[in-house]
Amino acid sequence: MGTDAGDGYEFVVVANRLPVDEVTDGDGPHRWERSPGGLVSALQPVVRQMRGAWVGWTGSAGEAPDPFDIDGMHLRPVPLSAEDVDLYYEGQSNATIWPLFHDLVEQPTHRRDWRRAYEAVNRRFARAAAEVAAPNATVWVHDYQLLLVPAMLRELRPDVRIGFFLHIPFPPVELFMQLPRRRELLQGLLGADLVGFQGALAAQNFLRLTRLLLELGPKDDRVEVDGRTVVARAFPISIDVAEVDQLAADPAVQQRARQLRTELGGDRRLLLGVDRLDYTKGIEQRLEAHHDLLADGEISNDDVVLVQVATPSRQRIAQYQQLRERVERAVGRTNGEFGDVGRAPVHYLFQSFGRAELVALYLAADVMLVTPLRDGMNLVAKEFVAARRDEQGALVLSEFTGAAAELDDAFLINAHDTDDIKRGILEALNAESRDLTARMHQMREQIRAYDIDYWARDFLEVLGVSGAHEAEQAET
Ligand code: ADP
Ligand code: G6P
Repeated sequence: MGTDAGDGYEFVVVANRLPVDEVTDGDGPHRWERSPGGLVSALQPVVRQMRGAWVGWTGSAGEAPDPFDIDGMHLRPVPLSAEDVDLYYEGQSNATIWPLFHDLVEQPTHRRDWRRAYEAVNRRFARAAAEVAAPNATVWVHDYQLLLVPAMLRELRPDVRIGFFLHIPFPPVELFMQLPRRRELLQGLLGADLVGFQGALAAQNFLRLTRLLLELGPKDDRVEVDGRTVVARAFPISIDVAEVDQLAADPAVQQRARQLRTELGGDRRLLLGVDRLDYTKGIEQRLEAHHDLLADGEISNDDVVLVQVATPSRQRIAQYQQLRERVERAVGRTNGEFGDVGRAPVHYLFQSFGRAELVALYLAADVMLVTPLRDGMNLVAKEFVAARRDEQGALVLSEFTGAAAELDDAFLINAHDTDDIKRGILEALNAESRDLTARMHQMREQIRAYDIDYWARDFLEVLGVSGAHEAEQAET
């Protein structure tokens, strides 16, 4: 259903990021690399299956390359100037909306020039989507960078079905009320026919706001706007379970997992963290808990090693630079205090890895640490579960992730409380193999039943896209 019949695509995804980033090393030719983050991990299999178009940014400032096809998808790059990157992406998106929607884990900044740029760039995305969408197409807009796009697109193209999905938390009413121009943001979202959230509470917050700010009368999961019905509902996102499962079954990946274990000190138990280096992820709290366990003598450098993979992210934003410094200081402190020659308690990798290497790490781990202070879903937790075909390994999971609602057989912890993280780690390390198998078995059933196909189908069916199901079935 996503092919271009000459007059556009019937299925179009609009997201700030394209699934691939443009990378140029010096004067050499440019190449494409998978973009960071959970949105891309989740959406890529969907767009590929639907043979759709993807409107988004390449990750580099300046002119956009011409549209091109890759991996069964049509990519339509949207240009962002250096100033747009500064004001729209690093400013309004990631220094205002991101921290505010994540419970003010960091203080948001409010600036008029950022809001102006945000509006202008949202309009550019809406125009690009309007250009590639076929008559009566389905356009699916994603995430907090593009909250105004649904209404802008409706103005340009009243014929298309518009869905919107928010990948991050939607804040409680009191927090949303702090945003300047809050009505416009809400009206932007109400341009969609269906607004999807990670959790039910988020959908309720949104509907309550339509009453408070716009005096609309929401009923159940819907609200009438200008004679149209907008539905707001939870659609917890998931992962491509089959992709991870296949990698985990690959003998080369399993061999790599064994090698990693040997290199990290054969008999030592392995604690693992894999995150974008973001202040919402609770990396500092996790490192502090680990440090304190060593200091208390509850664990020792002979028995336990922590590998923390931190993908570089939003590196020009001050809060991210400061976080990096604090994290690196904490790693240095633990290694200085508790390390031995040739044997460090923490291996810190400020790098991106390929999928196979990540899955090898998941397989090598005894305990996966997912400790965000707030996270819309957290796909790393689900990837870890999908990788553990051996039904071994423990997941320590923050209650403040969307994933905790589904993976309640994990070792759930309060990530704001270092003592509770310590408790979770110790319980996970000391759990009996039978207990781990029972927990992992349950969690695997859950993610197998609700994988990314289920999520996309569910959303598109509620959006009223006929044929979505058939197109996916035909592919598999
Ligand atoms: P977020 O979307 O906030 O980054 P998620 O946990 O939902 O958090 O998704 C992160 C995605 O990025 C996952 O698919 C994960 O595999 C991937 N990822 C995280 N760290 C790395 C890394 N160092 N190298 C490659 N991919 C990574
Ligand atoms: C999260 C957001 C995505 C974003 C990703 C990576 O997953 O929900 O919208 O793309 O982080 O962040 P970046 O700023 O690098 O796009």
